[in-house]
Amino acid sequence: METTQSNKIVYSALKPTGDLQLGNYIGALKNMIRLQDEYRCIYTVADMHSITVDNVPADLRRRTYDFMALFLAIGLDPEKSVLFVQSHVPQHAELAWVLNCYTQFGEASRMTQFKDKSLKHPENINLGLFAYPTLMAADILLYQTDYVPIGKDQKQHLELARDVAQRFNSKYSPTFVIPDGIFPKQGAKISNLLDPTAKMGKTDDNAGGVVFLLDDADTIMRKFKRAVTDCDHDIVFREDKPGISNLLTIYSVFNGTTIEEAEKEFAGASYADFKLKVGECVVEYLKPIQEKYDYYMKNKDYLEDIMKKGADTARYLANKTLSKVYRKVGFVQPK
Ligand code: TYM
Repeated sequence: METTQSNKIVYSALKPTGDLQLGNYIGALKNMIRLQDEYRCIYTVADMHSITVDNVPADLRRRTYDFMALFLAIGLDPEKSVLFVQSHVPQHAELAWVLNCYTQFGEASRMTQFKDKSLKHPENINLGLFAYPTLMAADILLYQTDYVPIGKDQKQHLELARDVAQRFNSKYSPTFVIPDGIFPKQGAKISNLLDPTAKMGKTDDNAGGVVFLLDDADTIMRKFKRAVTDCDHDIVFREDKPGISNLLTIYSVFNGTTIEEAEKEFAGASYADFKLKVGECVVEYLKPIQEKYDYYMKNKDYLEDIMKKGADTARYLANKTLSKVYRKVGFVQPK
């Protein structure tokens, strides 16, 4: 890892269930890129989290490569950051088991994502889905993480990780750093274009309202043209205008302007023109990313080298924390 200005650790992960979409980029990836120049960053393709819901193995395998290629294409840099695949570092599962024993059933039951997913898939409420937040806590705590760049939907999981870490620290002695979240100023919750009251998600039923990072230009334009707005004609950021506010947020992120500047730019414009402009600027922004993605996907050996190098470093770092934890809970260290 390169020497950076600060020794603070940044950790984040994305799970390869469904394809990466604008919400992931705005909520998490953009900050992950930015933070690389300032901190020691560790970023994971969280494949172990993906099997908590029903999965087609070939899709999971393909997406794991996809995610790594996209990590590189958007500018995550293996010279600056540790990039790896979660299942290549067994310490994640090992620490998760220990943390399960320090997490109460009631706490895990209160997780809104567990409740939502249980309602959505009543046929597959498995133990892994229930323990998902302790695996996520293990991901974070293994690396003595200071900052976790995430979107708003992961805030409750991060709070659980903090609670469990604090509990462990006070029962034994300081073991884990207590991590803080880093949320984007704008766009901590990007909404589905067809339902601006709902979060945009990789696996939404409303897929027509989800813009994927790998969508082609026509698809992106079609999705923006159909975006739900409202029945007046003001292009302003306001709580009672979730559709327009969401589009303004997307525009300001991809155009590199503030919301106020975007409001000024579109004062008096029609909704149709506005949506067209937002779509065009997203297409423009994603084009070089998609080209780089194609390049990396043709170089799977290179992707595998990055995965290996990242996992080797991650295992080394993770082991330091795990052996400390094993000692503290009373496990005899093997000779
Ligand atoms: P995941 O894979 O669902 O999402 C990845 C990241 O994208 C953010 N995000 C959004 N932000 C704004 N608007 C949206 N519509 C939107 N949709 C998704 C998420 O908040 C997340 O930051 N459990 C995690 C993955 C994970 C993780 C971790 C994250 C596993 N271990 C440790 C941080 C640290 C998840 O499912 O994210």
